[in-house]
Amino acid sequence: MNPVEIAKGVYQVGAIDWNIRDFHGYSTHIGSTYNSYLIIDEKTVLIDTVKKGFEDQLLANISRIIDPRKIDLMISNHTEMDHSGGLPRIMHYIGEDKPLYCSKMGLKSLPSHFQQKWNYQGVENGQELKIGKRTLTFLETRMLHWPDSMFTYCKEDQVLFSSDAFGQHYAGYDMFDDLVGDAIMDHAKKYFANILLLYSPKILKLIEQVQEMGLDVKVICPDHGIMWRKDPGKIIRAYSDWSLQKPAKKAVVAYDTMWHSTQHMAEAIADGIAAQGVDVRPMHIRSYDRSDIMTEVLDAAAVVVGSPTLNNNLFPTVADLLTYMKGLKPRNKIGAAFGSYGWSGESVKLINQEFEAMGFDIIDPGLRIQYVPDQAGHQSCKDLGARIGRKIVEAAAGGK
Ligand code: FEO
Repeated sequence: MNPVEIAKGVYQVGAIDWNIRDFHGYSTHIGSTYNSYLIIDEKTVLIDTVKKGFEDQLLANISRIIDPRKIDLMISNHTEMDHSGGLPRIMHYIGEDKPLYCSKMGLKSLPSHFQQKWNYQGVENGQELKIGKRTLTFLETRMLHWPDSMFTYCKEDQVLFSSDAFGQHYAGYDMFDDLVGDAIMDHAKKYFANILLLYSPKILKLIEQVQEMGLDVKVICPDHGIMWRKDPGKIIRAYSDWSLQKPAKKAVVAYDTMWHSTQHMAEAIADGIAAQGVDVRPMHIRSYDRSDIMTEVLDAAAVVVGSPTLNNNLFPTVADLLTYMKGLKPRNKIGAAFGSYGWSGESVKLINQEFEAMGFDIIDPGLRIQYVPDQAGHQSCKDLGARIGRKIVEAAAGGK
């Protein structure tokens, strides 16, 4: 990619990773970017680097603007390797003695990652750094989403460098919201559902704090994907909505199947839900990536999970999905379990245990059918779907 000018003297100089398809278990269907920001003032600043292996792109982009050796100081908003992996090479290039600003927690995580005695400068929440005409303010955002995470804000340009927050795994040459249009919101939603959902209460608090501080933000610059300049309020409002986890009139039926019996159950349950006017999609776990299922779970009122019983246990892909989902702490969900079995039939009980651990409202003990659903079994599935659908409709109307 070429450098992208955000404001006079402020550039995105990071790298595009067109080919990544699995970002530690998150499916990145069209790749991602590792954004890095260059600010030219009396002091020249680089905020975050790129994943290891992408340093050439970063250095080439910086070189189109200035000699990288003229960078006076580094800021690390976040230690995770997709932003810090390039640090060893960049620090070596610009000079190992150059100051490296990070949060107090970054003082622990950066040396733990790189075993380097760089010139670390830990900053306090709200601390300012004058770099010439500009002043940078550091805002601690601990556990959004790592202990070391922080934002850097430039008040003169009204630019917020927001680390992972407000990002998207999206690779493209159009690097601003107004150039991509509303399609970017699906990527932002997936990112939120799979990276940030578990921190929803902290996000609501942070948004409140930032509003109280009265920060004027003209452009939000995250570390992945496009930058928000047309309407930065749009992504902030979306984060508020997603953090509240208000259920939509929608259900997800996620399942795996061995000989199609649990699949037939899933589709009949979905038919029953849909007949109540509820948006629903049966999602075969081996046809959809877990991160795509999780994106649908974000605003679903009901999560209906089906598994065959395999060796007295859950089918492994169902266990995978439930483990992943539990870690992301979805809230305000109705839960219902189902599954076909041969002789022992533990899967429904095991799914219900996971629902309980997630605090779901389990509205049915769960539906088990031995071997292959017959006509009566098929009808039981439709009836379960209808009950789930009615419950969603009632909840949407404000009932119980
Ligand atoms: Fe994009 Fe938490 O790293």
